[in-house]
Amino acid sequence: MSTPEPADALRMLPDSNWDRGSSTHVEHLVEAGHVLQLPNLPFTLAQDEQRFLSPSWSDGKSKNISLRGAAELRGAQGGKDDLVALQAMIRRFAAQAQALVERLFPQYRRKLRAGNASLRPFAVQERESSWRKDDTRLHVDAFPSNPTQGVRLLRVFTNLNPAGQPRVWRVGEPFADFASHFAPRLSRPLPASSWLLHALHITKSRRTPYDHAMLQLHDLAKADKDFQCASPQQEVAFAPGTTWVVFSDQVLHAVMAGQHMMEQTFYLRPTDQLAPETSPLRVLERLLHRPLV
Ligand code: SIN
Ligand code: FE
Repeated sequence: MSTPEPADALRMLPDSNWDRGSSTHVEHLVEAGHVLQLPNLPFTLAQDEQRFLSPSWSDGKSKNISLRGAAELRGAQGGKDDLVALQAMIRRFAAQAQALVERLFPQYRRKLRAGNASLRPFAVQERESSWRKDDTRLHVDAFPSNPTQGVRLLRVFTNLNPAGQPRVWRVGEPFADFASHFAPRLSRPLPASSWLLHALHITKSRRTPYDHAMLQLHDLAKADKDFQCASPQQEVAFAPGTTWVVFSDQVLHAVMAGQHMMEQTFYLRPTDQLAPETSPLRVLERLLHRPLV
């Protein structure tokens, strides 16, 4: 039996410049759950930055090297000058990603909050892990220690691979279909659990009923072998030099292959969307017939 394919999740944008180009006002596309693919938008490395395309700059403890704010580099090791140059490279990516989202999504201007930027130097196939951390399984992004309380996760990715290798993703069915499939299995949080998780510093802020539902969806999907292979999905190969933008809390995704990528996360409140009813928060509230705040 072949796996059914969902309607094409991708939308191509021709732009070849981060802060100039013809594509703008595409909020409706990304809110509808499309992956915006910009095949002509590389992040260009200087000659002496090519050396950063190596896992050897990782401190070995985290799978990504990340930049928090403008100045805090995490997960990297190296000499002082090297780390300054590495940080400057990631900061330049963060600035370009910012220029891109301001141009593509004028409606979100001053509403998007930039989170971390990261460099992902490891080959996907070599990554460890428990089934819960295994991003080769279809999932929507939801993190146990980082509750979003319904705030959206908008991510900009760029494939930097110097050897021509694509980053290969699977993209799954629309969020409402996915959520309906697992909704009968969603339980409510235990009374006082959200307070306790926060008091014990397990979560960085209060885990709301929304976060509880999203974590369950994340885990139910990853643990379900049938869902992984039989649910509607399409494979997408993002060639080096391609940038793509997606609401990763909404679009089911899995990464199958690739090495060397950069990523910048932005946060957006559902009320700042063009169509707040498309947010996972509102979709889940409609499906479960209860508020999740
Ligand atoms: C993910 O968010 O699941 C990881 C995507 C990737 O590493 O390409
Ligand atoms: Fe993910």
